[in-house]
Amino acid sequence: MAKNIKTLLSHAGRNHAEHGIVNPAVYHASTVTFADVAALEKATANPFDGVYYGRHGTPTVFAFEEAVAALDGGYERAVATSSGLAAITITLLSYLKQGDELLMVDSVYGPTRGFCDTVLADMGVTTHYYDPDIGAGISALIKPNTRLIFMESPGSLTFEVQDVPAIVEAAKAHGVVTAIDNTWATPLFYRPIEQGVDIVIHAATKYLVGHADAMLGVICCADKGGFTQVKKTAVRLGNCPGPDSCYLGLRGLRTLSARLEQHQQHALQVANWLQQRSEVAEVWYPALPSSRGHELWQRDFDGASGLLGVLLKTTDAEALAAMLNGFEYFGLGYSWGGYESLALPTLGGVQRQVTGVPASQTLRLHIGLEAPEDLIADLNAGFERLNGVVQ
Ligand SMILES: Cc1ncc(COP(=O)(O)O)c(C=O)c1O
Repeated sequence: MAKNIKTLLSHAGRNHAEHGIVNPAVYHASTVTFADVAALEKATANPFDGVYYGRHGTPTVFAFEEAVAALDGGYERAVATSSGLAAITITLLSYLKQGDELLMVDSVYGPTRGFCDTVLADMGVTTHYYDPDIGAGISALIKPNTRLIFMESPGSLTFEVQDVPAIVEAAKAHGVVTAIDNTWATPLFYRPIEQGVDIVIHAATKYLVGHADAMLGVICCADKGGFTQVKKTAVRLGNCPGPDSCYLGLRGLRTLSARLEQHQQHALQVANWLQQRSEVAEVWYPALPSSRGHELWQRDFDGASGLLGVLLKTTDAEALAAMLNGFEYFGLGYSWGGYESLALPTLGGVQRQVTGVPASQTLRLHIGLEAPEDLIADLNAGFERLNGVVQ
């Protein structure tokens, strides 16, 4: 297989297409019939190999899974899930049982935290939140019952970049499994398996699908053992991503490099402009030399996507609302990774246990594919509305 990731983006997973047609068919399937009892028995004995029952996957699903697995550079198969959050919860449930401890990064995506604090807590799994900047210091937190270390880099909303190799080294020394949410960078810009991480998770809903029109997740494992463990849990939990979503994920991959290069260029332009503004205290965009996490990003990543954080100077919620309510191009809403720009205030602050974040002053921006000049004009008008209320 080709080594260059841009070539892989065009070609990985193509072996499931038929009749000379470039893309695979979208199979809508539940029942799979077998030629005879011997074939039925053979498939039943190996339910993860090939087509067996709709829930276990079809060639459309396998094409998407194999494409992402090739990009991440681990085991040749992956596990597609019904959403990004499902990819996270299935991974956690694959490794954690009663009495285990999970080391979870404090800057993690809110619903991941919610799952740890409810479902895992009820199961008798303890979650210990750690500082995203901990690096090799994680060794001191590893206990005999520590089973898994979960990372997300950069962190949701606050964009701390983690020292993944240092954490992996400590984990390996203690026989602890590592997993990372790599949604921000995608495999195009960061491949954690190359740095020794065991499991990589993508909320494919974001950049892999790329058009804000499907929910999808995917789990890639470094080796076959990890894949089998995760796949078994996914099947037992009834995970079943829809064929149309998997098709859209695969189609999104084909243009990922073209889109992400543009997201990066536009986001850099907007981030540079934002950091000159008097209303802005900090811009969190790892590609900016002045941003938190820049050095680690420069060491480990090949690029930056279009999502960034802004720490505003004002804490006036009314002023922030005035800014957000009048945007022409920035939509107000959750998610990101589509072609369109979005703004999201962190209402009521950010949940943290070991690291402090100022409440109600942060703004998350997704910089889309619109002309950056238009986005800057939209933000400029927004700051004028904000200043009108503050003064
Ligand atoms: C970093 C991160 N991980 C995971 C998810 C969950 O993905 P999904 O919305 O597909 O469940 C999100 C969604 O916003 C996210 O931002």
